[in-house]
Amino acid sequence: MPSATPESSTPRIVLGVAGGIAAYKSVELLRLLRDANYYVAPILTPDATRFVGELTFSALASEPARTKLFADPTTPIPHTYLGQHADLIVVAPATAHLIARYATGLADDLLCATLLATKAPVLLCPAMHSEMWAQPSVQENLATLRHRGVMVLEPETGHLAGGDVGIGRMAEPAAIFELIERIVRGYRGPLSGRHILISAGGTREAIDPVRVIANRSSGRQGYALAEVARRLGATVTLVSTAERDLALDVAASIEVVRVESAAQMREAMLERFAAQDCAIMAAAVADFTVIPASEKIKKDAGIPTLNFETTPDIVLDLVAARTQAQIVVAFAAETTNVVENARAKLLRKDVDLLVVNDVSAPGAGFEHETNEVIVLGRDGVGESVSLRSKEAVALAILARVASLLSKEPHE
Ligand code: C5P
Repeated sequence: MPSATPESSTPRIVLGVAGGIAAYKSVELLRLLRDANYYVAPILTPDATRFVGELTFSALASEPARTKLFADPTTPIPHTYLGQHADLIVVAPATAHLIARYATGLADDLLCATLLATKAPVLLCPAMHSEMWAQPSVQENLATLRHRGVMVLEPETGHLAGGDVGIGRMAEPAAIFELIERIVRGYRGPLSGRHILISAGGTREAIDPVRVIANRSSGRQGYALAEVARRLGATVTLVSTAERDLALDVAASIEVVRVESAAQMREAMLERFAAQDCAIMAAAVADFTVIPASEKIKKDAGIPTLNFETTPDIVLDLVAARTQAQIVVAFAAETTNVVENARAKLLRKDVDLLVVNDVSAPGAGFEHETNEVIVLGRDGVGESVSLRSKEAVALAILARVASLLSKEPHE
């Protein structure tokens, strides 16, 4: 018995919750869905109620949470009602037991009965210990379900219950929500149809076959830009310094081009730029390079003399090559007279946006998880983006990019 009749345009989600510790994350998913105006009917398996309270779900959802097949005299067959009226059924977390029952076609509780009684798309978000996830039985059940058209959002690697670390952690509520948006509303982000080329990391200039001159850039801000641009709908190419990105996750749909030196980065960027709407030079590019020795420089030969030469400025090359419809974004790392220096740089480089980093500020710049920047436009007006995660900073930058692209061709 629904307590509120949704408008016909309101998407209806049945949120199934099985008995795993990740059930607590479903509360956050429910809140995200309700904030975005979904009609949500929760179903908890009896074991789920050992981890989370039915009342918590009832308080946040569009109708009271249900836990039993035969409990409600006003809706004697709730599974068919729920199954027939859903636009999507999401099971988060989906335990090994739930997956097995669903794959086998059992209908021994309200959630499994509803899964059998629906023609709506079904999304499973598995969560379990790594050993359980690796079991052939679990993987075969999932393969069977996938074969029948069920969508599976793979678990992540990270901390598991009991202090273990490994694969099996349920996808984050924000990622599940984003996928639901795409499935149900065909969500198209503000950068959909756009191509964005991003450089990330610090370049490494060889001195000899074993030694390099590097810098402290971690690549995190560039990776955050790539990930957020992807989420906003863009087709993303990431030109990244080699090895660094091994520790950083990157979505499969992002093309990663590995480079090492400034010269390689320049070539990779210029080669691809013509097909892009926007290039963002987030990388810390060496200003000087060395003509490398062909063999390892020997210690007993005395202190070596390195002959430096300046690297070409990739931003200037991109700006020289751009059409009226393309935009170029550069970064500036400053420690003194931050805004004045940045304004001068914006004019000198003739870029559309300059993201100014005060690398001396606490918690900002190289090797930090957070950043604090000023986004400077051609009009010289700076937007201060206070200290926050690099993804949140990326969102602020990309919102400006999206707005510039929507005004194209720009001056
Ligand atoms: O002039 P400066 O090095 O401070 O400018 C920083 C910006 O220029 C960054 O966006 C960086 O990626 C880019 N850059 C470049 N080529 C270089 C040096 C820096 O594109 N050789």
